[in-house]
Amino acid sequence: MTGEAAGAPARDRSIELCGVRLRGPILNGSGTFDAIAARRAFGDALIERFPFDAFVSKTITAEPRQGNPPPRLWETPAGLINSIGLPNKGLDGFLGSDLPELAELPVPLIVSVMGFSRDELAGLVAAAGARDEVAMLELNVSCPNVETGLVMGADPVETAAAVERVRTETDKPLIVKLTPNAAEPAAVAQAAEGAGADAVSLVNTLKGMALHPRTGEPWLGGRTGGVSGPAIRAIALEQVASVAGRVEIPVIGMGGISTGRHAADFLAAGASAVAVGTESFRDPAAGRRIAAELAGLSLTGTGPAPASTLV
Ligand SMILES: Cc1cc2nc3c(=O)[nH]c(=O)nc-3n(C[C@H](O)[C@H](O)[C@H](O)COP(=O)(O)O)c2cc1C
Repeated sequence: MTGEAAGAPARDRSIELCGVRLRGPILNGSGTFDAIAARRAFGDALIERFPFDAFVSKTITAEPRQGNPPPRLWETPAGLINSIGLPNKGLDGFLGSDLPELAELPVPLIVSVMGFSRDELAGLVAAAGARDEVAMLELNVSCPNVETGLVMGADPVETAAAVERVRTETDKPLIVKLTPNAAEPAAVAQAAEGAGADAVSLVNTLKGMALHPRTGEPWLGGRTGGVSGPAIRAIALEQVASVAGRVEIPVIGMGGISTGRHAADFLAAGASAVAVGTESFRDPAAGRRIAAELAGLSLTGTGPAPASTLV
């Protein structure tokens, strides 16, 4: 890779993702960065120095949800187990109060939706997709379909049926967020592509559990939770490489990314863009730092690195 001459204009690092131009390849993982709370805390500095190149909303459902009872977090030696349970204001609350605030962000907005039936998912896609402020939609399929009892994203046939059902509801790009808790995530990705998905993102959290140190009972109010952070990075990297080898559509890679080197590894494994999740809880500016580190790697000619590089 060639370096940039001193004083030369900043290099264009923009990418096109599903026909949408992004100023760079770093997104947030859904549910891991509250842009509205951050705007309150940091004011317009957040807009001037927004950490991501596109913003993915927390997953919204048709009806408001309280989420799971506390405790909702357990810290592992290399990450988190969360059992948040998707608390959110529901579709109407999101469209009425969150969307106008998120539309002020300086980057394209991706709205993440989850439905407990295909028709519910279709309604969410139609309503969110109809709003001009929304550039793309992400389908969070890590939930049971109440009609079949199967986790939509764990099964290729279920995933294809869900994507087919919603595909006609919007012309906007549809990203399917894959769960790593599937027997073969690459087969699910292929099914999503065949049914009309424009991109896949992975990984969501891995199923995990922690016990109360004294009682031996499950620590988390939801009993089990989702593991995220550095603990899952090697697993995520393998799944991203395997999915990228099986689909033509873009892959958005995530799972434990906390440095530019990690981001470079996911890109080298076949991702077109990457997302930062748990690391943003430790450092809200992590997205910007990781983007700068990634840019530094390509300037010094040491990146993207081979996928086997571990730092
Ligand atoms: C506290 C927390 C909340 C999350 N909420 C959502 C969510 O609402 N929707 C979703 O698709 N993924 C959600 N995720 C998963 C992340 O977007 C991401 O896929 C996962 O954490 C792996 O990335 P990471 O290891 O960088 O965190 C959540 C993760 C955490 C830790």
